[in-house]
Amino acid sequence: RGGGRGGGRKKDQRKEKEKFIRKNYHQNKTVSNNYQKNTNTNKNTNTNTNLNTNKNIWDVWDKKHLLLPCSQSNTYTITQGNNKKSLSKWYLIQTLLKGKIENCTKFCRLLAKVIPNLDLDNLVPLKSFLKEKLDEVGKKLFFVYLLPKMQRLALSLPQELNSYNKPIPLLLKGRLNKAELPRTLIASLLACSFFCLMPYGDTVSTRPPFLNRSNFTNLYTGKKEIGSANENKLRCFLNYFHYYTKKDTPKNGVIGFYRNRLDQIPDWKNRNNKLCGLNIDNNGLIENTDLHLHVDFANKYIGGGVLSSGCVQEEIRFTVCPELLVSCMICEKLGKNETLLMIGAKRYSNYQGYGKTFEFVSGYIDRALLDSQNRCEIQLIAIDAKNFSRMDPKLQFSPKYLNREIEKIYCGFRKLQINQFDARPIATGNLGCGVFGGDKQLKALLQLIAAAEAKRDLLYFTFDDTQFGEDLMNVYSLLKEYTVSQIWDMILQYYNHVQQSNSTIFQFIYEKCFEKIPSESINNNL
Ligand code: AR6
Repeated sequence: RGGGRGGGRKKDQRKEKEKFIRKNYHQNKTVSNNYQKNTNTNKNTNTNTNLNTNKNIWDVWDKKHLLLPCSQSNTYTITQGNNKKSLSKWYLIQTLLKGKIENCTKFCRLLAKVIPNLDLDNLVPLKSFLKEKLDEVGKKLFFVYLLPKMQRLALSLPQELNSYNKPIPLLLKGRLNKAELPRTLIASLLACSFFCLMPYGDTVSTRPPFLNRSNFTNLYTGKKEIGSANENKLRCFLNYFHYYTKKDTPKNGVIGFYRNRLDQIPDWKNRNNKLCGLNIDNNGLIENTDLHLHVDFANKYIGGGVLSSGCVQEEIRFTVCPELLVSCMICEKLGKNETLLMIGAKRYSNYQGYGKTFEFVSGYIDRALLDSQNRCEIQLIAIDAKNFSRMDPKLQFSPKYLNREIEKIYCGFRKLQINQFDARPIATGNLGCGVFGGDKQLKALLQLIAAAEAKRDLLYFTFDDTQFGEDLMNVYSLLKEYTVSQIWDMILQYYNHVQQSNSTIFQFIYEKCFEKIPSESINNNL
């Protein structure tokens, strides 16, 4: 659809609209409270008697910072006679969270007070989780032991912010910006997210433009019972809170989020370096490798559908490492030459299955050590491939998309100053070839040449596709003799070839390398 002529016009209109929203959103100095339908827009508003007049240094309510539930500017409106009165939302939240929440009904009532326009009948997934999916022991553990601790965690947000002592920046498009947040602050933010307290974080229509969801609202709401994958995602999140709130759990360290933009694009036609090392793993998973740069097969909205119905590679990673969820709150949609590096997010859960069969299995104790900057030695690079699932598959071989993909991948693979030029090998796999419908052979080739340019080895996980592992190793052995520019040239040539032929890009490369070998015998070998 995106490739058609009408699609082009629509795309232009969309881009114009985006430009307009971004200009108006980010250029104004403050976020107006009329962003959300039920917040105050009345000019005759009375002064809010609950608001403390001494503003904290972290309390900056504008378009460049994360909007915090405990901000003085987080208000709601009540009507008294002809007057509208603006009250502190945090005051309300404190009152609600200081009380006991001993059952599902009370939890739902709390949500109804904090989520704008929530219909209590619309909490079927949450009710089915708490009433049916949790057994009696689970219910007791949740309501008696865990929930009070999570309430305290959410309430501790102002103290955490006092220690952090600065506003939390948004990582905005086109800027080289970073946020290094203490693990303790992240835990408080996530507890707020669990209770759906993040301002504007509930639905697509109310969240600030170009940020992903920041509240759990979407996991709780709907008219159908909770699906198995979301039930298990919730189990993983609760397991995180359970482990984190234990007394003896180490809570030190920071997690770094670094927006990374590629400004200088290598001239692929003139690069003489050869391919670096390649190892293939047919049975393992990216997240199980130590001391590699892990690739997150991302959405341009970081985290993808983790707080809604998604449950593939990125969502699963965020579910077993929930501290990553903070990136959904602070990272604006990635641009075409941008990626996001995340350092230090630990893993808390073991899982099995994938997609609809995803299941929480048990807790996981991550023993990763801290680096010199107080971050755990776990590095994840979010690279959002182009979504080809609704396009003519041949289009991905066109120069336009080849350039888009190679630049994006190289942007993620290259060594960064922010990371002290760390050159650890890259653990990757079928990036862009699941939900996004990309061609595995092409993406593997692009990753090989991007890694060569970045001078880093690749560890490639085929996700049980042993045949593909073999094919990739064969083609790699052949291409080791060639330079990046020669391989790039063959990839570019394939676009014309694929218009008339059904041979794969690996077959085409074999043909190019051994022009004389008849293609049938090559086909039989692949
Ligand atoms: N380790 C190694 N390989 C894996 C793993 C793993 N843990 N998990 C999956 N694979 P997909 P995409 C393989 O579809 O196409 C999300 O919603 C497996 O072969 O997650 O880039 C994002 O938020 C799988 O088919 O990535 C985006 O919206 C393939 O990797 C969108 O999906 C691709 O996994 C990205 O889609």
